Amino acid sequence: MSSSSGNITSVLKETRSFPPSQEFSSQAHVKSLAEYEKLWKEAAEEPEKFWAAQADSLSWVKKWDKVLEWKEPHAKWFLGGKLNVSANCLDRHLSGARKNKAAIIWEGEPGDTRVLTYQMLHREVCKFANVLKNIGAKAGDRVTIYLPMVPEAVIAMLACARIGATHSVIFGGFSAEAVADRNNDAGAKILITSDGGWRRGKIIPLKENVDQALAKSKTIEKVVVLKRCANPVTMKEGRDFWWHDLMDKASADCPAEPFDSEHPLFILYTSGSTGKPKGILHTSAGYLLGTSYSHRLVFDLKEEDIFWCTADVGWITGHSYIVYGPLCNGTTVMMYEGAPNHPKEDRFWDIISRYSVSIFYTAPTAIRAFIKWGDQWLNGHDLSSLRLLGTVGEPINPEAWMWYHKKIGASRCPIVDTWWQTETGSIMISPLPGALATKPGSATRPLPGVVAEVVDKQGNRVGDNQGGFLVVKKPWPAMLRTIYGDDARYQEQYWTQVKGFYFTADGARRDEDQYLWIMGRVDDVLNVAGHRLSTMEVESALVNHPQVAEAAVVGKPDEIKGEGISCFVTLKSGNAPTDELKKALRDHVVKEIGALARPDEIRFTESLPKTRSGKIMRRLLRDIAAGKQTLGDTTTLEDYSILAKLRSDEE
Ligand code: WTA
Repeated sequence: MSSSSGNITSVLKETRSFPPSQEFSSQAHVKSLAEYEKLWKEAAEEPEKFWAAQADSLSWVKKWDKVLEWKEPHAKWFLGGKLNVSANCLDRHLSGARKNKAAIIWEGEPGDTRVLTYQMLHREVCKFANVLKNIGAKAGDRVTIYLPMVPEAVIAMLACARIGATHSVIFGGFSAEAVADRNNDAGAKILITSDGGWRRGKIIPLKENVDQALAKSKTIEKVVVLKRCANPVTMKEGRDFWWHDLMDKASADCPAEPFDSEHPLFILYTSGSTGKPKGILHTSAGYLLGTSYSHRLVFDLKEEDIFWCTADVGWITGHSYIVYGPLCNGTTVMMYEGAPNHPKEDRFWDIISRYSVSIFYTAPTAIRAFIKWGDQWLNGHDLSSLRLLGTVGEPINPEAWMWYHKKIGASRCPIVDTWWQTETGSIMISPLPGALATKPGSATRPLPGVVAEVVDKQGNRVGDNQGGFLVVKKPWPAMLRTIYGDDARYQEQYWTQVKGFYFTADGARRDEDQYLWIMGRVDDVLNVAGHRLSTMEVESALVNHPQVAEAAVVGKPDEIKGEGISCFVTLKSGNAPTDELKKALRDHVVKEIGALARPDEIRFTESLPKTRSGKIMRRLLRDIAAGKQTLGDTTTLEDYSILAKLRSDEE
C-alpha cells in the first residue's frame, strides 16, 4: 500500500473466487447471497428492530425499555435492560442436555488435559466469584487477570462478570512494566496470576513479573496465585493468596446478580498511534449480543461443533471467541496452553485430529509459519473433522490463503477471513460461509447490522476499486463505549478523523462485487504477528535507555510476522554504536514492553531524517527498512538525513 497525501493506492489484484459447496450452503444458517443481502438490507433499514430481534437470543432478567440511545459518539444499547453475562454463558445451559456437554476441552503444553462441562464450569465460576467477594471485590471494581492459557483464565473472567467487577486481562507475554502501567491506569484492586505458564517447554515467571510490577502499582490490595508450574515464588503475607486455598474454603452457591445492560464488563488495553496504551471499555449486553450473534453466523455454528480459536485470552479475539461468544452459544471450546511448535511443529494438527476439532480459527502469521515449517508436519494427522476455517488479525496474503484452503481445508472447508478490532468488540466484516463466495485476501462484506464503507477524508464514498479509509457509519451493539479514563481521546481518535463516522484507521478498497479488501493501517501502528503495537511505545522504550538520544520505529516487511520492527536510533554523544549496545537495546525494549515488541533490527544513525517542521520522515525510513535504500554496514553510525536531503531535492 502506498499512502501519499492521504490517497491510498491499492495494488493487490486477485480474481479467484470460491463459492461454498451446495452441501455446505444447504445446511447453513444463511444459505445464499440473496438471503444475506435481504438480511443486510433489513438491518440497515431498521437497525433497532433488527438488533432487538437478535437480542431475544439472550436471557434477560428485565427486558430493555429502549434499544438504542445514540448521542454521537456515545451509544447506549438496550437501556433499562438487566442481565448477568456469566448467567448467559453458564446458568441458562444447565436446564437441559447442555448441562453435561463439554464447555472447555483443554490441553496444557506438557500434555496434561482437562474437560469442564457446563455444570462443572458453572460450579468453578460460582466458587471463584465467592473468592473474589471474600477478598473484597465489589461490582465496579477493576480486577487484573495475568494468567497463562488455562481454564482458570476463563473462570476468573466469568467470575468477575458474575459479580459485576470489571476485568482487565493482560496477555502473559507482557513485561512487569506493562503490567504496572495497566494496573495503574485501571486503578485495579485485585490481581489474579499464576506461579508461571508453559511456553516451549520453559516456564514464564508470571508471579515474579507481578512482584516487580506491584512495586510500581499501588492500587492492588490482594493477589490470587494459581499453582500451574510449581516453580518457586515469593508470597507476601496478607497480600498474596493461593488460588487453591481460597477455593477450598469458598461456597459453590453464588446466585447471579442482574446488572444494567451498560454495566462495564471489561477493559482491554490496545495500542494506538500515540502515547500510552488505550483502555478500551466494553459493556455488558451489547457486547454479549455482538459476540454471540457473530459467532453463530460467521462460524455457522452447530450444536455438535468443537470450536478452536487459537488466540490467547489476553487479546480481544480470545475474549470474544474463546469466552463470551462461544459460551453464550453453549459451544464446546478447545483451548490449548502452549506454542504451536512444541514439542514439534505438528502440535496443532495433532490436537485437531485427536479432539476432532470442527472449526479452526487462527491468524495469518501462524499460517505463514506452518508453510515455512513444511507440509511434512501434516503427515499422519487426520484433519477430516474440520468443516470450517477462519483467520483474523491482519490481511492474509493470497498464497497463504490458498495453502490454508488446500492443505488444511482439503479444498472443502470455507474460509472466513474476519475483519474486526479490539474496539469493535466482535467480527464486523466476514463472509457468511454458506452465502458468500470467498476471494483469497478479502474479508468480503459486512455482517447484517454493520454499515461499513470506504470513504475519502471528507467522508464521501469512493468509487469501486479506489483505495480509501474504512469507516463504520452506524453504531453497533458491541462497539467500544469509551477509552477508560480518557473520553476526550476516544472522541478524538475515533470520531473526528472522518466526520460523523467511526474511523477504523485501516485503509481498504471495495471491488466491483462490493467486496472489501483491507489494506492495513494508515496510522503509526505496527501489526506484528497479528498484534497491534504502536511505534510510539517502542520509541519511548528506546528513548528511556540512558544511552539513547532519539529513536524512530517503523515496520518492515517480514515473511512470517507480516511486519517486523525496525528501529533507527541516535545515541547521546560519547556512546559508541556497538553490537553489544544493539543487544542491550533489544533487551531493554523486551523489559519495558514484553517479548512481543523485540526489535528485529536496530540501526544507529547520526541524525534522523526530518521535515522542515521537524516531523520524522517515516516514509523514507520505511523504504530504508524495507531494503530499498541502504548505506552499508549497520553497526556504524550513518547519516540518514542525507537521504532525506537527496529525496527533497528530487521532489
Ligand atoms: C487488523 C484483532 C485485515 C486491522 C481482532 C485492524 C485485519 C487490526 C483483519 C485490529 C483481517 C484484523 N484482515 N486486517 N481479517 N483482522 N486486522 O485490535 O488492521 O488486535 O485494525 O483486533 O488488525 O487489531 P486488534
